[in-house]
Amino acid sequence: MPQPLVRTTIRAIDGYVPGEQPPPGARVTKLNTNENPYPPSPRVLDAVRAVPPHALQRYPHPMARDFRAAASRVLGVPEDAILAGNGSDDILTIATRTFLAPGNILAYPEPTYSLYPVLARLQDARIVTVSWAEGWSLPIDALVATGARAIYLANPNAPSGTCVPVAAIEALARAFDGLVLVDEAYVDFADASALGLALELPNVVVSRTMSKAYSLAGMRFGFAVTRPETVREMAKVKDSYNCDAVSIAAAAAAIADQEYARGTWAKIRSERTRLTLALEGLGWCVLPSQANFVLATVPGGGAAKVHASLKERGILVRFFDARGLSDKLRITVGTPEDTDALIAALSRASGL
Ligand SMILES: Cc1ncc(COP(=O)(O)O)c(C=O)c1O
Repeated sequence: MPQPLVRTTIRAIDGYVPGEQPPPGARVTKLNTNENPYPPSPRVLDAVRAVPPHALQRYPHPMARDFRAAASRVLGVPEDAILAGNGSDDILTIATRTFLAPGNILAYPEPTYSLYPVLARLQDARIVTVSWAEGWSLPIDALVATGARAIYLANPNAPSGTCVPVAAIEALARAFDGLVLVDEAYVDFADASALGLALELPNVVVSRTMSKAYSLAGMRFGFAVTRPETVREMAKVKDSYNCDAVSIAAAAAAIADQEYARGTWAKIRSERTRLTLALEGLGWCVLPSQANFVLATVPGGGAAKVHASLKERGILVRFFDARGLSDKLRITVGTPEDTDALIAALSRASGL
């Protein structure tokens, strides 16, 4: 393909760089992409096995009817306030294409999820970033002053794991004319959610994923909650059949089995505390996290070296060579055995 045929914008961007995914069966302690360390509910596997052949033969429901019904019951929001997507990255793509025209500004506090700038560039939108305020709090005035069409806010934030209060998000949405997209990929590990704002205020969209809290990263399923009139506009932008029949069945079964999911969240939250204390015991500085990962500063620097040494020992964590992050590692909260393996490797390795 001759390069000039590719849009200038596409040639100019690097694209999103996903975390490393080792081949199936590789013997690694995988703490680099914030998956749930526990398998999905047994009811999910039953639902997948029960998908009848004709459901594969025909197109799926374009709006993922069975998932919407299950999620509506669990979350207490109307079915038509839910838009399903092929992972929440799909929801973020749909939102960016729905709300940002070329030249419009997307603003977000930085550092945050590194997909946001990629999506904005694909749309030929402009990007204005704002530093987090003191203590990773929300820089409301600075964000409003950007003149943006849309503000994206990961809450809990990645990679910091920090959370801003819902009252601050409400203050931002009330002070701002544009869209406020609250990316709640990690909200099930946190103490509070902005879901109520998505129906109360006309300019708020909340995005959720089934990848983390429901152990379905490989299945690809996410969803947005917002007012029905906004769902209808976003639905015009999505692929007609953006969620397949198997993932709809799996996601519906997963969200319906709250007892199982909440059991994994409780274990992860308690392990988060144990991991934090263990790292602090080794002299690391750990940000208070509301997510299923922690961002920790390596004592004496050398985060890249520690990252590489851990990898040699079969332990994958995430290193970001970016402003404000190059002395830190982001570590997913795994099982107690994962924490033990990590802490043993860190304690053993001289010079780390
Ligand atoms: C803040 C944030 N939003 C969204 C996603 C995407 O999740 P999904 O697997 O639903 O596409 C991630 C994944 O790591 C994330 O960290």
